[in-house]
Amino acid sequence: MPKLIIDDIPVEVPEGTTVLEAAQSVDIPIPHFCWHPALGKAGACRVCAVKMLDGPVKGVQMSCMLPAQDGMVVSTTDDEAVSMRRSVIEWLMINHPHDCPVCDEGGECQLQDYTIAGGHGIRRYDGKKRTHVNQYLGEYIEHEMNRCIQCYRCVRFYQEYAGGTDFGVMGRAAMVYFGRQEEGPLQSPFSGNLVDICPTGVFTDKTARFRARYWDYDMAPSVCPHCSLGCNTVPMARYRELLKTTARRNDRVNGWFICDRGRFANAVVNAPDRPRQALVDGTPVSLDEALDAVAARLGDFLELHGPQALAIVGSPRMDLEGNIMAARLREFLGAGALCYFDDADQAHLTGAAAALLTADDSASQEDVRNADLIALVGCDLLEEAPMMALAVRQAWRSGAKIYLIEPTLSQRTLWGLKERVAEGREREEVKPLPFEYAHVTSLADLPLAEAKRPVIICGATAEGLDAVQSVPRTAKLAFILDGPNAFGCAELARQHNAVALSTALASGRIKGIISFEADLSRDLPEGVAVLAAADWRPTGFTHRAGVLLPATAWVEQTGIYVNNEGRAQRFKKVMNPGLPIKGLTPELHPPRTHGKTAPGSDVAPSARLIAALMQRLGEAEVEEPLSGPWEGLRGLEAGGEGKKLQATTPGPLGPRGSS
Ligand code: FES
Repeated sequence: MPKLIIDDIPVEVPEGTTVLEAAQSVDIPIPHFCWHPALGKAGACRVCAVKMLDGPVKGVQMSCMLPAQDGMVVSTTDDEAVSMRRSVIEWLMINHPHDCPVCDEGGECQLQDYTIAGGHGIRRYDGKKRTHVNQYLGEYIEHEMNRCIQCYRCVRFYQEYAGGTDFGVMGRAAMVYFGRQEEGPLQSPFSGNLVDICPTGVFTDKTARFRARYWDYDMAPSVCPHCSLGCNTVPMARYRELLKTTARRNDRVNGWFICDRGRFANAVVNAPDRPRQALVDGTPVSLDEALDAVAARLGDFLELHGPQALAIVGSPRMDLEGNIMAARLREFLGAGALCYFDDADQAHLTGAAAALLTADDSASQEDVRNADLIALVGCDLLEEAPMMALAVRQAWRSGAKIYLIEPTLSQRTLWGLKERVAEGREREEVKPLPFEYAHVTSLADLPLAEAKRPVIICGATAEGLDAVQSVPRTAKLAFILDGPNAFGCAELARQHNAVALSTALASGRIKGIISFEADLSRDLPEGVAVLAAADWRPTGFTHRAGVLLPATAWVEQTGIYVNNEGRAQRFKKVMNPGLPIKGLTPELHPPRTHGKTAPGSDVAPSARLIAALMQRLGEAEVEEPLSGPWEGLRGLEAGGEGKKLQATTPGPLGPRGSS
């Protein structure tokens, strides 16, 4: 472990740490553009200059390129180093436009920060600035090449880290161009990371263009709800509109990046016509009145049919608290069925997958990135969990052997493919995996004995589970589940003997349903009524519901999702609910009456809706949903690494401690 001194502070760091990282470890910031923790060094920008006062290397050096060594004495404040960094900024600003006031990156621009920090304010060079022609890169990313400072981060991410081939660097010397070989939408499913990784405004988020400055945003640490991996994000909102989503670093999960689905799928939250108004038989009422109506109708229903005829339906897309409260409501009412999954196969396979994972066996994305052998069974990663494909690529880049067990497409994906073929979208949608692999016919053909850190990645499919159960467990397991809280629902289903909705309906006993954030993919049998449905998205349940209870989206509340590896992660409220100001047409505009609350804001998280309903039905005030086996999650903070849970069979799920 090299020991060195940086700005009079003694530092000891692991072998291979650079001087820049050593300084960061004791909170000494050194400016940097081309260096990035996930991409490593390039030595391209020269802005990380420090002065080596003593030791094996002397003089002004690039701290990102220099490995820390014993006896080094480093100064980041030496006049020569400061002057070098100042000069680099001035050289970069020779060609960079002075357009901060009209640049969408303004306020969150590293170049702007360093320019101001370095004191560069007067332009001495009076020549013409270099200019480029921009490209159309699709509907998500705006291109402004004149702002480029040639740090090469974009191309290093796009090609090396993410495996994209349609974007690169062209030209030479002072006329390099970062773009596509021909204009058109970027093909990589990770292209949105260019926005985060560019240290200035060459790539900006077109979907949020000119809508807000960094300091205008409401933002909070959150978790992506668009697949089961639980990648960490920072959603950013203004005026009750979710404007953009950026990646949040979590080394155990997504590292520094997110996929384009997680970044750009914001429209569904902002849809003016999403359920925002409580309705009783189609008539607008307040949320309180709607809850009163549910309580009254439930009383009538129970008297007429008895509790066994009632099904309470939760869902893998609802947070853990909501699903725990659904189980409590079922218990309180003595309802005949509690359902977390729609389909019997899905319920069985997700439960079996969760039961196979223990804290030691379940592989995080970090484990996948560090694996030396990976087998893919019964899953289509780019379709079902794109960031897992990116993690596999990192392992492959480090020399891991990747194997595909045939057939590799899960049932879910096959359905998706059929739909895409029917819509004529198949060719454009199916993208090649960003790593090389070999085909084998079964897990028994894998050279598992030669691997030190093998990982098997499976879809929660019959073929995947069969394959995994038939081999000795020397590898870690990662299952790709269906929904951000599928693992949590599988555990709750086991604890509370839940059944799939299809099974409950097939019994012929169920006459009434109350659903919470659940999707309905089937026709309900004749005589089955949806007494009430709570959701923030329009679904088959909300369309059929006698009482519609509008719920908050995940960005409008605090909650917990348990991801595919059993990692509980808290997400925080980002924005207040209500109709976004932008996009209101005269038809959609609410009545122009004075009120203390925003139109469309009479909504609540599903967990709170259930608690309010139970109170109306005579239950004492409902305490914290996280009780009993879930109590250990009460102190879980948003923004950390999360807490990995252990699924045990039988017995209650117990937090096993941070991993
Ligand atoms: Fe060191 Fe760019 S950060 S040369």
